[in-house]
Amino acid sequence: MSIIIKTDSEIEKMRVAGKLAADVLEMIAPFVVVGVTTNELDKLCHDFIVDVQQAIPAPLNYHGFPKSICTSINHTVCHGIPSDKKLKSGDIVNVDITVIKDDYHGDTSQMFCVGTVNPHAKRLVDITREAMFLGIKQVRAGARLGDIGHAIQHYAEANRYSVVRDFCGHGIGKSFHEEPHVLHYGKIGEGETLEAGMIITIEPMLNLGKRHVKTLGDGWTAVTKDHSLSAQWEHTILVTPTGYEILTLRQEEM
Ligand code: MF3
Ligand code: CO
Ligand code: CO
Repeated sequence: MSIIIKTDSEIEKMRVAGKLAADVLEMIAPFVVVGVTTNELDKLCHDFIVDVQQAIPAPLNYHGFPKSICTSINHTVCHGIPSDKKLKSGDIVNVDITVIKDDYHGDTSQMFCVGTVNPHAKRLVDITREAMFLGIKQVRAGARLGDIGHAIQHYAEANRYSVVRDFCGHGIGKSFHEEPHVLHYGKIGEGETLEAGMIITIEPMLNLGKRHVKTLGDGWTAVTKDHSLSAQWEHTILVTPTGYEILTLRQEEM
């Protein structure tokens, strides 16, 4: 199999889906505060996606995932399942949104700092965001996937964090997860060559401790083995002849 090059009309649909996913994060941001449960965040996002956007929350029933968003708190690396547990001051939480509109997917996530957060946690959150953007800046036709991975790994490790290897970014389009695997570590000049019209996610997970993760008994929740804090940010990116277009950019990022 090979990497799908999107047509102009598919790219237009991906722009719409990406914008909707970004809009969900903007909608939910003011609700991510001390005392809210992640189930409440899930319901707000679900209802907004279904009723307002007339779109589909892609995670719901995806390989049996039980909720419409992923909420990954503190040492949870990714795929956290919303629950009745309340967010507390000092938590760092990733909210990962994927919507399907007109058959195409938009996938994006961001970290939220709840109440007063320890400077060490805040630093992990900020460096992880910067690592994602350094990866994104490598994207252009002719670049290699290894260029992206290297940029992220180099910056993460220079800041004494580890890069999770068990999960990666992915191609995206009509399917949630398409080829290629977008590793967040690697070597310059290695891996597949990017071409204009490819659409991928870049979604690095960085840990304060070691890179190793384990999956809990629910079959989804991935946590750091050493229980160290973990952070993640994600955007959906179109490869263009001269660079990239971030399809999930939020107003605050423009
Ligand atoms: N949104 C995640 C990603 O970035 C995938 C979540 S799969 C789910 O690829 F089933 F947990 F929703
Ligand atoms: Co993704
Ligand atoms: Co995602």
